[in-house]
Amino acid sequence: MKNITVIGTGYVGLVSGAGLSDFGNQVVCADIDESKIRLLKTGKIPIFEPGLKEVVKRNVKSGRLSFTTDVSKAIRDSEVIFIGVGTPEGKNGEADLSTIFSVAEMIGNNLNDYKIICTKSTVPIGTGQKIISIIKKYKNNDIDFDYVSNPEFLREGAAVQDFIRPNRVVLGVTSDKALKIMYDVYRPLYINETPIVHTNIPTAEMIKYASNAFLALKISYINEIANLCEAVDADVHIVAKAMGNDGRISPKFLHPGPGFGGSCFPKDTKALVSLSEKLNEPINTVAAAIVTNDKQKKRMTDKLFSLMENEIKGKTIAVLGLSFKQMTDDVRESAAIEMIQSILDSGGIAKAYDPVAADNMKKYFPNIEYSTSWQAAVKNVDAVVIMTEWHEFRGMDLSELKSLMKSPLVLDTRNILSVKDLTELGFKFDNVGRKALK
Ligand code: UGA
Repeated sequence: MKNITVIGTGYVGLVSGAGLSDFGNQVVCADIDESKIRLLKTGKIPIFEPGLKEVVKRNVKSGRLSFTTDVSKAIRDSEVIFIGVGTPEGKNGEADLSTIFSVAEMIGNNLNDYKIICTKSTVPIGTGQKIISIIKKYKNNDIDFDYVSNPEFLREGAAVQDFIRPNRVVLGVTSDKALKIMYDVYRPLYINETPIVHTNIPTAEMIKYASNAFLALKISYINEIANLCEAVDADVHIVAKAMGNDGRISPKFLHPGPGFGGSCFPKDTKALVSLSEKLNEPINTVAAAIVTNDKQKKRMTDKLFSLMENEIKGKTIAVLGLSFKQMTDDVRESAAIEMIQSILDSGGIAKAYDPVAADNMKKYFPNIEYSTSWQAAVKNVDAVVIMTEWHEFRGMDLSELKSLMKSPLVLDTRNILSVKDLTELGFKFDNVGRKALK
């Protein structure tokens, strides 16, 4: 078991740090953000991630996990340094790597012994080489280090499970010494025969982008099939289910919806297209998936407007669900943002409810009304739009919903409400690709 520092305490860094300590390693999570570290030291978790609090608590108690703002010391004291800082979208769709590079500089300045520098953050192919060059430039000695690309495949909302029981671990590394140490870091997974893909650095970096872009493609594909289903009176759910029965296709990531959001797919697809253009190797499929996704978000607002016969001005619309998917408080690139914006742009009044994401949405829309329950949000409204597939919306009593609303009009962008029940109760409604059953 190893002495590890994880730099960055966002979704990736914190889940990785907690997971690595759960594997038996001695882990320090380091971040320059004092308020985050202060929270963590008092046992609070700055993000909503199911199960994370328990893993953190357990490992802090056992003495294997701690937190610090002294990043330099943490680097000097550890053998393996994981980089888990953010790589937000920068200009022209390229990833903004400034934080990654300043971390690399800091590692170079503090390289006091042989270390492994391991990147978990999603970085464009070729970044590994740049990190190596920066560390070499700043280390003022002939101490050796090795670089590993170890991309994460964590879904927000299921990140703890994804870390502890991954489908695979990818290790892009050329040194045998470093590979041996990484096997030790991931020893419990190695022992239980989790597939470990050992490859070179660019291949590991590519695996991450190719995986995310492929999943994004699947979503855009099923969304376009859903739209076509509407035109031919077919039901996309039955189509997707039967497609998924084919083992070559798999049923996963074939749920139609308002378009993918989050901090990963929108950014990573753009970064891959941007790289492909730079290298003059166009990746047209992914470029098309991005266009389709933008159109899908717009299509949802068009659907609402046509349900309301374009009479939005002065009308109140309840937006149920603000996060980009269920089980997270993350609203980045959430389709709900575009929905709320277009309601406001058309002179409508938006009321919002989400079980956990309201505070984050307040940064985008500080002046709309946020309710504390779906019942409060839908009271006397002219229409309801479901944007996130939270279980509490699936279980909604539709008679109660109807009795609370001014007029029974619902747009279900996640296809979670029963078409049969909506029809029987006399709702005017729309969804994504299930027109045949209305
Ligand atoms: C995604 C990947 O699934 C992770 O493997 C990856 O590690 C992560 O990005 C990352 O790069 O860090 P995440 O963004 O948390 O994870 O969420 P997903 O569950 O993949 O969902 C992304 C978006 O696609 C959401 O808006 C979701 O609602 C949408 N989606 C997903 C659909 O519309 N239909 C589907 O069938 C599946």
